[in-house]
Amino acid sequence: MESELNTYALITGGSSGIGKSLAMELASRGYDIAIIALPNTGQKEVREEIKSAYNVNFKSLELNILEKGAISQISSWVMSEQMNLKILVNNAGIGYAAEFDSLEGSFISTVLDLNIKATTLLSHAMIPFLKKQRQSYILNLSSAAAFYSMPYKSIYAASKRYVLDFSSAIREELSSFNIGVTAVCPAGVITSEEIRKRIKAAGCIARISALEPSQVAKESIDAMIQRKTKVIPGKIAKLISWTRFIIPPGVQRKIIAKNFRKTI
Ligand SMILES: NC(=O)c1ccc[n+]([C@@H]2O[C@H](COP(=O)([O-])OP(=O)(O)OC[C@H]3O[C@@H](n4cnc5c(N)ncnc54)[C@H](OP(=O)(O)O)[C@@H]3O)[C@@H](O)[C@H]2O)c1
Repeated sequence: MESELNTYALITGGSSGIGKSLAMELASRGYDIAIIALPNTGQKEVREEIKSAYNVNFKSLELNILEKGAISQISSWVMSEQMNLKILVNNAGIGYAAEFDSLEGSFISTVLDLNIKATTLLSHAMIPFLKKQRQSYILNLSSAAAFYSMPYKSIYAASKRYVLDFSSAIREELSSFNIGVTAVCPAGVITSEEIRKRIKAAGCIARISALEPSQVAKESIDAMIQRKTKVIPGKIAKLISWTRFIIPPGVQRKIIAKNFRKTI
């Protein structure tokens, strides 16, 4: 098992959902944990869970990463806390199911800013810290949605396609610095009651491929350590993802539209 004493994993959105499971998984492997999450969203609980189960350091920063100046605030925090940053996990992201023309402009901006801009700018800001390690990692939360053009999740799927392509491109550039970059492409992950309902409404394929966040976290960290380009957690989700090579895109869109229309 790979881990180094006193090296930190920095996780955005680490106080709930997949981010929290990733924090727990990394702590179980001996990494010190630093999470960034919105104010008053369970950072105390994560601290207690991690500290009671694992002998690692824990730091947290309450911050909306979309605020002006947030990225430089994170850089200053990493520097002032003298963290040896070995892992950056860009997890914070937002999903939805709705007709494109029903969305508010401000919501569209939030999806793009969080899923695309924050991931890109935080990666950019953390690379100088990651370069200081003998080897280090960036783990970016994309989605199985990235493989398709997705009616009713149009901006979400396109934003996750960006994350996937961005990750594989910088992976090539950063390989000479021994920085691995891995994109995680989960299908449905049951992180809240709302998502559980959405998965149920989306039909049989969504239901049988859905996973618990702890399963996603374990497979993701394994893939990151193995320096894989991408990982699709879960055997069924992996299998289903092959349909994108077999079913013509026009037919895919019709099937997706039929299923996701039921979820809005
Ligand atoms: N759940 C799924 O089915 C699924 C499937 C594929 C991919 N993904 C991707 O996996 C990632 C995590 O998903 P999830 O379902 O675990 O999401 P979630 O439960 O909604 O958690 C999202 C996390 O992002 C954080 N966050 C949101 N806005 C933020 C902001 N402005 N500043 C700082 N943190 C912010 C939240 O922090 P707080 O805890 O502070 O609220 C939360 O921890 C996302 O990128 C998502 O797109 C999810």
